[in-house]
Amino acid sequence: MLDFVFVAMFGIIPVMAWSIYLVKYRRPGQDYKCEWHKRIQLALAGVLLVAVTSFEVDLNLITKDWRPLAEPSPYYASKTVDYSLWIHLCFAVPTPLLWIFVIVQALRKMPRPAGPCAYSVRHARWGQIAAAAMAMTALTGWIFYWLAFVS
Ligand code: HEM
Repeated sequence: MLDFVFVAMFGIIPVMAWSIYLVKYRRPGQDYKCEWHKRIQLALAGVLLVAVTSFEVDLNLITKDWRPLAEPSPYYASKTVDYSLWIHLCFAVPTPLLWIFVIVQALRKMPRPAGPCAYSVRHARWGQIAAAAMAMTALTGWIFYWLAFVS
């Protein structure tokens, strides 16, 4: 599952960027793109929910301990792998909470079909924070994976 999530994040980040691009650079009369942004973001959240659940099941019930797999790494003994995991967790733990908040608020406050409204500015601000947090989760996760299992 570690390998799967590592690869999956290479797909999730460009799709998220494309979904935000759709709303950020739309021209007048292209409000239908908001509905596509909504669909893509909800689909991404679903994929991430499945990925995170399978990941946790693997780590807690199947593989149980990733440490023996990382011991051959030249960065293991110096604790660099541990530090990189802590940095990764600083992003990986709050990011799902931010995503739940952004999605719940958008579903409650945005019109149907989705489009510009009084809540747009606040959604854009929180959406940028949630998207940046997801990008950092991926980046720090890749660094941890490389230090622990590739190097
Ligand atoms: C975690 C999930 C989501 C993230 C990270 C996200 C992110 C963003 C960002 C960054 C923008 C601003 C783009 C800009 O700079 O102009 C935006 C705009 C928008 N989002 Fe989301 N979004 C998410 C979920 C949703 C959902 C579920 C809906 C609908 C219910 C939605 C509806 C919209 C709409 C309508 C706009 C355009 C607002 C306007 O320009 O008037 N978003 N989103």
